Amino acid sequence: MPIRPYTSIDAAAAGEIFRRAIAVIGARDYTLEQVAAWAGPEGTAERLHAWLSDGRLALVAADAEGRVVAFGDLEADGHIDFLYAAPEAAGTGVVSGLYDALEDAARAAGMARLYSEASEAARRFFLKKGFTVLHRRDFAVRGVAIHNYAVEKRL
Ligand SMILES: CC(C)(COP(=O)(O)OP(=O)(O)OC[C@H]1O[C@@H](n2cnc3c(N)ncnc32)[C@H](O)[C@@H]1OP(=O)(O)O)[C@@H](O)C(=O)NCCC(=O)NCCS
Repeated sequence: MPIRPYTSIDAAAAGEIFRRAIAVIGARDYTLEQVAAWAGPEGTAERLHAWLSDGRLALVAADAEGRVVAFGDLEADGHIDFLYAAPEAAGTGVVSGLYDALEDAARAAGMARLYSEASEAARRFFLKKGFTVLHRRDFAVRGVAIHNYAVEKRL
């Protein structure tokens, strides 16, 4: 599965993956009210593009036809802010390859630690990649109570 840097031509695909990943995969562990708050209002795709093109490392995984099916990022301090897969690509190993590329880049940059705030599905994924759960985080997004987990991996 080819992995390459995110560019502006991927913006629409990333927005679509973000929305579908939350609606389909997120809905397994979170209520409809929670996934709606997580996905955010109209315009989130534009904000997503602004984040992914702000200088951080952002990678996409494409299928054999070149269609983007997952994306993820790595900030300069080792923070992984985004890791999202199209539902049909989730569970196939695509995200594993994408994550490995992010970790390789972190090691190459001399980072000592990777960390994230992981949803339930992401927590299960990160545990398989050697992360440790530090604590559960309970907070509100757009007025809706939700939770995730602070996770980290020492490199
Ligand atoms: C987090 C994510 C990128 C991990 O990628 P992945 O390919 O699904 O990783 P895994 O195969 O290890 O699956 C992790 C968990 O996701 C869930 N999952 C995977 N594929 C799924 C699918 N098609 N439908 C519903 N849930 C699915 C499973 O609960 C799985 O846990 P399990 O293997 O212990 O049952 C992906 O699940 C995703 O996009 N989730 C929704 C968005 C999200 O939560 N992003 C992280 C924000 S912090």
